[in-house]
Amino acid sequence: MAKEIVKPATGKLGIMVVGLGAVSTTFMTGVMMTRKGLAKPVGSMTQYDKIRVGKGENKKYLHYNEIVSMPSLDDIVFAAWDVFPVNAYESAINAEVLKEKDINPVKDELIKIKPLKAAFDRNYAKRLDGDNVKQCKDRWDMAEQIREDIRNFKKETGVDRVVVLWAASTEIYVEPDMKYHGTIAALEQAMKDNVVDKVAPSMCYAYAALMEDCPFIMGAPNTTVDIPAMWQLAEQKKLPIAGKDFKTGQTLVKSGFAPIIGTRMLGLSGWFSTNILGNRDGLVLDEPANFRTKEVSKLSTLETILKPDAQPDLYGHGNAEDTQYFHKVRINYYPPRNDNKEGWDNIDIFGWMGYPMQIKINFLCRDSILAAPLCLDLCLLIDLARRAGRWGTQRFLSFFLKAPMHDYTQGEEPVNHLFQQYTMLKNAVREMGGYEADEEID
Ligand SMILES: NC(=O)c1ccc[n+]([C@@H]2O[C@H](COP(=O)([O-])OP(=O)(O)OC[C@H]3O[C@@H](n4cnc5c(N)ncnc54)[C@H](O)[C@@H]3O)[C@@H](O)[C@H]2O)c1
Repeated sequence: MAKEIVKPATGKLGIMVVGLGAVSTTFMTGVMMTRKGLAKPVGSMTQYDKIRVGKGENKKYLHYNEIVSMPSLDDIVFAAWDVFPVNAYESAINAEVLKEKDINPVKDELIKIKPLKAAFDRNYAKRLDGDNVKQCKDRWDMAEQIREDIRNFKKETGVDRVVVLWAASTEIYVEPDMKYHGTIAALEQAMKDNVVDKVAPSMCYAYAALMEDCPFIMGAPNTTVDIPAMWQLAEQKKLPIAGKDFKTGQTLVKSGFAPIIGTRMLGLSGWFSTNILGNRDGLVLDEPANFRTKEVSKLSTLETILKPDAQPDLYGHGNAEDTQYFHKVRINYYPPRNDNKEGWDNIDIFGWMGYPMQIKINFLCRDSILAAPLCLDLCLLIDLARRAGRWGTQRFLSFFLKAPMHDYTQGEEPVNHLFQQYTMLKNAVREMGGYEADEEID
């Protein structure tokens, strides 16, 4: 038996979710329905996957909770913030992701989740106009109020540990700026000086979470914890952070499919991805400044899998001026489809002697159905990381994320290749369970 190096998951785990929209209510409803034995948590690694530990004769395939101490779904207690005052039941009904028959059995539990007032600034999401919003003197006050919410939640529920998950709308793009984001002191000063265009509300949530001893996960493409100030704060507080942007539909396919091209040494001249989406997320992303944040996140996936520098003939068009394949991503707001996103990928590849070929992928997915298991896994695994004494950016969680955080100030590249990410995930769990990391084929 390996020696586990993780503190046991005793007591209750609080999950405070920023945003009580389609993704969060689908996540919460699924957890509650699973607890009652009325649904299956399909797509969740922590609930289904088995990891090999040991080698040769000693090899065994074990579920996560057989390798490391994990909370059961019964141990989870939810809370949320939102700009709109409707409770989780009404919000789940409004989102129209799940049928009423899949929501009603847990109606009583959902009704009890009433959103706390949001830390919100309309300049960050112009298409949203709700009134369940905190009145804040400045960004410092905003963070103080969120800290108080977290302390109250802990007191009222008696939970042992809390994780804060951002599943709220995508904010407008905030370019990391070292003057304001370079150190903890610079960020705190910017909050006190109320530099509203550099300190996004999401940064106040992340700052508050870390100050209140809670790991933080960024599920949208916001650059919130992708700045040195947050890395330093996470290190100082010995807390894990993870981000950014749930890897759900098109990017999941991309990071799983691009390795086919790369491992067979085929060439790529262009990859055009487009989507239609009709939910509130799509509405917010219809605003160019908000889409920009998503675009940056979605575009980053291919560059580290099909590298123009490493294979100029295949991924650099073979000439010096035009150094990379064309990669375009579009999202179009189209209400009739609601949460059922349709994505099209047109991939222009070339083979022997440069002869062109095309691949078309048409993915008719359900956004929140794909995102919900990621919410669960990210929350349980970041809590595990904290109990294992890990802090800072959790690279092993890249598997779940579209634009994994990395230290760009040191020229570090993120790992986007789905199967490399899977190896990182398995090895981290093995190590936390006291087993050796390895790269054997399972
Ligand atoms: N579903 C997916 O496949 C997927 C994939 C990757 C990322 N995401 C991201 O997840 C997020 C949630 O998606 P969704 O479909 O649930 O969207 P949604 O619009 O249904 O829900 C988001 C909620 O966040 C609330 N909100 C916005 N700003 C807030 C703030 N400052 N504080 C508190 N609440 C706030 C909104 O009022 C809304 O109810 C989006 O940012 C989306 O881009 C989703």
